[in-house]
Amino acid sequence: MSLQGKHIILGICGGIAAYKSVSLLRLLVKAGAEVQVVITPAGKEFITPVTLSALSQKPVVSEFFTANTGEWHSHVDLGLWADCMVIAPATASSIGKMAHGIADNMLITTYLSAKSPVFIAPAMDLDMMAHPSTQANLRLLESYGNHIIEPEVGYLASGLTGKGRMEEPERIVEVLQKHFASTETMKGKKVLITAGPTHEKIDPVRFIGNYSSGKMGYALAEECASRGAEVTLVSGPVSLSISNPSVKVEKVESAKQMLAACQNHFPAVDVAIMCAAVADYAPAHPADSKIKREHQEVPVIELVKNPDIAATLGAAKKPGQQLVGFALETDHEFDNALEKLARKNLDMIVLNSMRDRGAGFGTDTNKVTIFTRESRKEYPLKSKREVAADIVDAIINHGCELSSEQ
Ligand code: PMT
Repeated sequence: MSLQGKHIILGICGGIAAYKSVSLLRLLVKAGAEVQVVITPAGKEFITPVTLSALSQKPVVSEFFTANTGEWHSHVDLGLWADCMVIAPATASSIGKMAHGIADNMLITTYLSAKSPVFIAPAMDLDMMAHPSTQANLRLLESYGNHIIEPEVGYLASGLTGKGRMEEPERIVEVLQKHFASTETMKGKKVLITAGPTHEKIDPVRFIGNYSSGKMGYALAEECASRGAEVTLVSGPVSLSISNPSVKVEKVESAKQMLAACQNHFPAVDVAIMCAAVADYAPAHPADSKIKREHQEVPVIELVKNPDIAATLGAAKKPGQQLVGFALETDHEFDNALEKLARKNLDMIVLNSMRDRGAGFGTDTNKVTIFTRESRKEYPLKSKREVAADIVDAIINHGCELSSEQ
């Protein structure tokens, strides 16, 4: 796929991997993109603007204004012009500045003004990459909706071997091509996503709930929105926020409220992704006032079954709609996931197992297997945002297969 006519800002920071940015620039231009290079002052120590402007056929932007003419370079205009921004290499310092809004150079101000998707390809020594502050900054940037192109494990400029090598330019171009192709497919698609736990009231101060943080569902909402979908996120009680203003968030508390919200939106959507950890049971008779321990025997709480939201939508599903469920399992994972796929009339189910380290509730990472009725694909441990990207890719591929069969 070409990048014909796409406006791309290539941000270059000061690291040895800046030499690879030249190849990246060449490849982007060759694929038909119009590229504006923005380089940090440290970046210019590694690669000369003359090379970059010759290849991009545009003056390289580095300072806020041109010293001899006083011409102002508008980071706001650049941010609006771009269809995407790719920062490669992104150093630990620039990653930290982006994460915390320290706008002391043209690249960071342009990043802060960018309205388009931003791809960040880190490159640094293995210990810097592994440092908790770098990792926290990357996860923060990811939570703001940016795409991290994880570095490879390999030989580093320090002579050491480890994770920190900037991804190869060919692969970065592939990531961008895939992004634009999937944006075409997802643009204007209506997507309903559930996230977080549900809380089932015992009395006004207590509830039955679970450990879901909402991270997986919110990552899915950000991912779908960044690809141009119109997203409604029905969220149980979590302490997260969404950075993409185009996501409509509807807050609910109980499974019944979540069901009502989903039934309201489902008829109009193309895709529904049921990521919430819905409580299977709720107290049959929630108390109107706080149950006092002083005056009572140990209470016995009678439970009733909650509605199965995914199964309810599965029964109402119309041709052309895709319904995706999750399965959180502790044993017999594959069998249970396949049983849920069939029983709830899902098109796809994403299995995560509590037996996999770093997967499931609360973590920033997940390890999933995606099943359709015809296929099964296992993925390695990745950040929840990357898992969300894999799930959206799988939905797009499955949608294409379905429409070619019809
Ligand atoms: O929120 P995080 O901390 O990031 O954690 C993410 C997650 C572990 C919650 C998520 O990845 C996940 O697995 N979500 C589904 C959890 C779950 O309830 O699984 P289940 O196997 O019990 O349910 C199967 C499917 O039916 C799910 O799509 C669920 O949303 C749906 N369901 C379940 C019960 C119910 N009453 N109604 C439902 O719709």
